Amino acid sequence: MSFRDKFKNADTALTFNDVILLPGWTTLEPSEAIVTTKLTEKIKLNVPFVSSPMDTVTEAEMAIALARNGGLGVLHRNCSLEEEVDMARAVKRAEAVIIRDVITVTPDTTVEKLLGLMEEHRIKGFPVIGKNDKLAGIVTWRDVRLADKNLKVKQVMTKKVITGHEEIDLEEAKKLLHKHKIEKLPIVDKERHVKGLITMKDITLKGDYPDAIRDEEGRLVCAAAISPFDIDRAKALDKYVDILVTDVAHFHNKNCFEATKKILREVSAEVIVGNIGTYEAAEDCITKLDGIKSLRVGIGSGSICSTSVVTRAGAPTVYATSNVADAVKKYEANISIISDGGMRNPGDVAVALSVGASAVMMGNVFAGCSESPGRLVAMEGRYYKEYYGMGSARARKKRFVQDRYSQPSKAINEGVEGWVPYRGPSKDIINEFVGGIKAAMGYIGASTIPEIWEKSKLALVTERGYQEIAPHDIMLPGAGRTA
Ligand code: XMP
Repeated sequence: MSFRDKFKNADTALTFNDVILLPGWTTLEPSEAIVTTKLTEKIKLNVPFVSSPMDTVTEAEMAIALARNGGLGVLHRNCSLEEEVDMARAVKRAEAVIIRDVITVTPDTTVEKLLGLMEEHRIKGFPVIGKNDKLAGIVTWRDVRLADKNLKVKQVMTKKVITGHEEIDLEEAKKLLHKHKIEKLPIVDKERHVKGLITMKDITLKGDYPDAIRDEEGRLVCAAAISPFDIDRAKALDKYVDILVTDVAHFHNKNCFEATKKILREVSAEVIVGNIGTYEAAEDCITKLDGIKSLRVGIGSGSICSTSVVTRAGAPTVYATSNVADAVKKYEANISIISDGGMRNPGDVAVALSVGASAVMMGNVFAGCSESPGRLVAMEGRYYKEYYGMGSARARKKRFVQDRYSQPSKAINEGVEGWVPYRGPSKDIINEFVGGIKAAMGYIGASTIPEIWEKSKLALVTERGYQEIAPHDIMLPGAGRTA
């Protein structure tokens, strides 16, 4: 092949701004559209949104909020193994019919230490374990809030504990909690060893979040990011999470494939791999990685990415998703697609769905929410939250994500640092996006996400046309902003 041939038949790597969804014949009112989606055989989401594993986006609080509202948060890995496991445990403990992973104290724990544990784990009561590992009492916030900090737990705890047996069902537990006006019910075996804990909070929360995504035990579904090269972390997280997501910028790499094969053999969680951006990468994932459930797709479109500026390599999310979707279709693979990077509004999400995605991963949008870990800052009368790329100098300083990028030099950064507008609680943003996607589905004439794949038609827009389809020729509120 001549060098000039490289330009012949070259693909056009289309991005969100290049395309528009064409309105089609519709018999559907947008409010009737259904946005539930199948992420894996086991896990269905009620809204097609996944938050990015980034340390300014997804820690336990965001993962809990998303799962409660029907989506999924992927815990970031820019921290120690222990810290990531702690986040996963917090998600799993946030709601459960029976908490299995119970945190307990001993009779000699001081009130001061206990108060620290309450704050650290954000829980207000602990079973007290005495001699021979048997339940000796229960200590709650009410017992200690005015107590001298030097006292020991045995001096303030309630010794006569109401307990439940191992086969207890929800109704029986509710009756006991109500009858004795208590908040927590330790579950014990015949020897009074603690086997679990039922709390009033968890029982009432179930009614508060009807869209929540839960596992078979009623706990929130949890996903966590891993490096394919850190099998110890994958195995440690596997005890708690439902999904493991490989977190590398360019997954179509022999070493990543070999390392992931090992992980697939060792873990029971469902595995999502990525990021990939081409038909060939998808083909290799499908044919060489037995057992993967989903593909994370898009390279270089993220709002904080500078990969394609620094390296001039990338596969924009729209282009990448359509290529990967064709490979999935050709092989009739039972594998979903998560489009990742570059989505700013519900229209972008609708476009990603139209080229074959089952769900979208967003960093920028969720970084602005109150549940994200980034700092809230006020600038010129507006609120912002900090947001930076995992390839930025700031993220790489923590050193846990160095292997996300295979870089020959430490001096090269593939991400930038900055702020995004504060958007309030994620629940409101999710509702806003669901409304926008349903409106788009009304235009397309699709009542479900698989119908979007089938029915949507796209047209290309020129650069000048793009100016016309956005608001224009009007002075917008805000200093000097002209659309
Ligand atoms: P948005 O557009 O939602 O994209 O902010 C989030 C996605 O961007 C990816 N990501 C990066 N890509 N350099 C990159 O090239 C980076 O520093 C970086 N950090 C995150 C990631 O896939 C995320 O989900």
